Amino acid sequence: MGDERKRSKPLVLVASPFQGHMTPMLQLGSVLHSKGFSITMVHTKLNSPDPSNHPEFEFLPLFDNFLAIDASANFTTFLEALNDNCKMQLQHHLAQKIKQGINDEMITIIHDNSMYFAEEVANSLNLPSIVLRSSSASYVPAFLTLPKLHAKGQLPVKDSMFQELVPELHPLRYKDLPFNNTSTEVATEMIALSERIRTPSAIIWNTMEYLEHSALTQLRQHYQVPIFAVGPLSKMVRCPSTSFLKEDTNCISWLDKQAPRSVIYVSLGSLATMDETELTETAWGLANSNQPFLWVVRPGSVCGSEWIESFPEGFTEEIRGRGLVLKWAPQKQVLAHSAVGGFWSHCGWNSTLESISEGIPMICRPVMGDQCVNSRYLSYVWRIGLELEHLDRKVIESTIRRLLVDDEGKEMRQRAIDMKEKAKYCLCNGGSSFKSLNDLVEFLLLQTR
Ligand code: UDX
Repeated sequence: MGDERKRSKPLVLVASPFQGHMTPMLQLGSVLHSKGFSITMVHTKLNSPDPSNHPEFEFLPLFDNFLAIDASANFTTFLEALNDNCKMQLQHHLAQKIKQGINDEMITIIHDNSMYFAEEVANSLNLPSIVLRSSSASYVPAFLTLPKLHAKGQLPVKDSMFQELVPELHPLRYKDLPFNNTSTEVATEMIALSERIRTPSAIIWNTMEYLEHSALTQLRQHYQVPIFAVGPLSKMVRCPSTSFLKEDTNCISWLDKQAPRSVIYVSLGSLATMDETELTETAWGLANSNQPFLWVVRPGSVCGSEWIESFPEGFTEEIRGRGLVLKWAPQKQVLAHSAVGGFWSHCGWNSTLESISEGIPMICRPVMGDQCVNSRYLSYVWRIGLELEHLDRKVIESTIRRLLVDDEGKEMRQRAIDMKEKAKYCLCNGGSSFKSLNDLVEFLLLQTR
């Protein structure tokens, strides 16, 4: 099929307002634009992306009526309200476009998994819809066991079961299951929400075949639609910043002054929070490790504080010259810096892929959702991460030293470097993600009336 044909093919990408979901959607938009497609990025007004970073896209903001959504509502209620508030606007916009005959090619909708209203709109307008999944693939089989646990009355999972392996989910333990501490009511709502997507034409996954082959095979059987594993999207094309918060680039000149592979980079992503005790233990653990550290404390991420007012007394003086605390980092640049030797992470999937892409071993401290599954794979299967079981200053200190100083850490770094090489190969001509992206492009071009 000729390039002109590709150029005229319109894709409508519907993004979620969460950082960990917005980033891969913008990256996918850049990748598909580079393949010749025209991109409309649909987003909520809450957490809008910056259009000036992507002059190649058309942007369609949807009025989400966010302020009217009950702030105390749980996550599923919030998502339902957001989906309800956006649906008619997208429907109206696309119906107009089709009526005006602006696009003589069939529009294809690609939507974030949590923005299921887009599939309903696609169905009502007889348009194909494709889902983008921004979590790991290995998370989904674990999520799909929730109904079984629910039926057996095993939710929330009892502490005494935590270390036991879950039947049929090797190597996951009960403690690694997403939403294992949730009530049966919330689990039922989560499952119902996941079932709102019924008829995707295909699924795009930000992962690599070699990394998650077994989960992808299982999911292909489960969903019975093509699944395109096209990750890591962050490495597919050069994409400008996708951050909602301003990236503090001063940390790069600080990193320039540190010894190679000596710095522990600490960041818990865009959603995870900690309480004051956890902050204090983290602070002293980092200080006592005697390693230089770069620590992202996101504003609002310490419960009850705006930023770092609750740092323990004496900490700032103690770490002067050895540690840098900032609000938001240019994470991909940080991980690519030669001074960084380890990444203490909540194991969000983007962070996990970014760390693997740079060959950086990790300290794993998952908080929720797919992070617990990712942490288990990092530490037990891929063996490039150390689980941080207790947020205690002594444990933190020794874990950092195990990773950055001990032979154990050196072996992990070598494995992480090997994984980085494999990730690079996935993206090269002949690699699995390269091939999967080409298959996706062909699939999109076939979506005609
Ligand atoms: C969430 C979930 O945790 C994740 O597991 C899910 O699959 C997607 O949504 P989040 O918790 O924010 O996302 O973590 P993560 O997936 O790691 O995404 C965070 C993104 O923010 C990364 O791309 C990271 O590079 C970026 N980031 C983080 C910065 O650019 N600067 C920072 O200081 C911290």
